[in-house]
Amino acid sequence: MSQQSTTRTLRVNGEPQQVAFAVHHSLLEVLREELGLTGTKHGCELGECGTCTVLIDGKPVLSCLELAAECEGRSIETVEGMMQGNQLHPLQSCFADLGAAQCGYCTPGILLAAQALLAENDSPTRDQIVEALSGNLCRCTGYHKILEAIEWAAARLRGDDQYQPPNSAIYGDPVPGKQAKDV
Ligand code: FES
Ligand code: FES
Repeated sequence: MSQQSTTRTLRVNGEPQQVAFAVHHSLLEVLREELGLTGTKHGCELGECGTCTVLIDGKPVLSCLELAAECEGRSIETVEGMMQGNQLHPLQSCFADLGAAQCGYCTPGILLAAQALLAENDSPTRDQIVEALSGNLCRCTGYHKILEAIEWAAARLRGDDQYQPPNSAIYGDPVPGKQAKDV
């Protein structure tokens, strides 16, 4: 049986792109399979894990639950659009510097959820960051490095050059009975 297809213009990372796809396909499927933007990850496809998060009109959206055909005329941002020219976005560089991405599978979705948060609130508290990431699961990091990386990126984006992540964010917690590494 042939699948009904449609052709729409999707605006992805600032570029309008005409793309044909099966009318029932999710935005996640179209981004990955038709546009080759594989930074957005397949996870549960049930709205549970957040790994497919993209921004639509600046808000985090689960692309596995969004019909691509309904995204025409809206601004879609994926992790591929985060770099600023040749420079990593401060969130990306803080994640890299602190080891906040391990296997990296959750990272694109978390970066975009964090980007949306920082666009609305340049000085979020730890609790506000946790709340903003409450729909994004990570199996590897235990979340601490992610939270610290977002706090550091927020400071960089505010132009606060004095802010330094705690030593434990870089070197881990001191071993009981041993001196913490002096930096
Ligand atoms: S793949 Fe979309 S929420 Fe899990
Ligand atoms: S870094 Fe592996 S799932 Fe988050």
